[in-house]
Amino acid sequence: MTDEGNPSADAGVLITFEGGEGAGKTTHIRFLAKALEELGYSVLMLREPGGTELGEALRTLVLDPSLAPVSPRCEMLIYEAARAQLVDEVIRPALEAGKIVLCDRFTDSTEAYQGFGRGIDRGQIQSANLFAADGLVPDATLLLRCEGAAEGLVRATHHGTADRLEQAGIDFHQRVQLGFDQMRQESGGRIRLVDTSGPKSLTAAQVFSALADVIPALADPRTFDEDYFAVLDVRSHG
Ligand code: TMP
Repeated sequence: MTDEGNPSADAGVLITFEGGEGAGKTTHIRFLAKALEELGYSVLMLREPGGTELGEALRTLVLDPSLAPVSPRCEMLIYEAARAQLVDEVIRPALEAGKIVLCDRFTDSTEAYQGFGRGIDRGQIQSANLFAADGLVPDATLLLRCEGAAEGLVRATHHGTADRLEQAGIDFHQRVQLGFDQMRQESGGRIRLVDTSGPKSLTAAQVFSALADVIPALADPRTFDEDYFAVLDVRSHG
């Protein structure tokens, strides 16, 4: 692997996407990845928990409704275990190779879900996050927010059976949402809010402009004009 793929980055960039259930993260990560590749960057898309063979196995375990009840500490440690593997096996080497890593959820999810949601002390979670992520902190984090936890949950569970976290109840998911908001305010600008209540094209445009300080080419209006984003609103593109 070389740095040749990246026009400007000499070290990699880690961008994470956060939010409640059904906020549309996957669509926007894929769309951004495609744009970055068109710009000549070398991009890696990952999800948490997951992204490694062990991480995907841990994901299946932690989300399996048949294994409830799960101790909140056990739940937190499974997420951290999957993260440690992902950082060592995939993220760290990719950043060292100069890639742009787009990660669907990362350390902030643990603080929001296991901290604000389950009630584990935030300080302890922050320490565990640093340990599992080996000190890595995202260059930027986009917080995608839909109208409310309830709508998001409905959307996320629309096509199938709810996983164990989706079944955790509306109060839990409202605490998570409020947690993300508080964390954003405390993040010193790292966490940027993206409102997903409008058309997908509008959300994508917000995603691009929210990252302009990290990847300036995303703010070029000649490349990324209305037509560029409009494709997202065509029904067949989901
Ligand atoms: P998702 O990737 O499809 O959103 O599913 C992952 C689920 O796991 C989601 O409900 C959020 C939850 N989660 C945590 O509770 N803590 C974590 O640290 C992470 C990464 C995810």
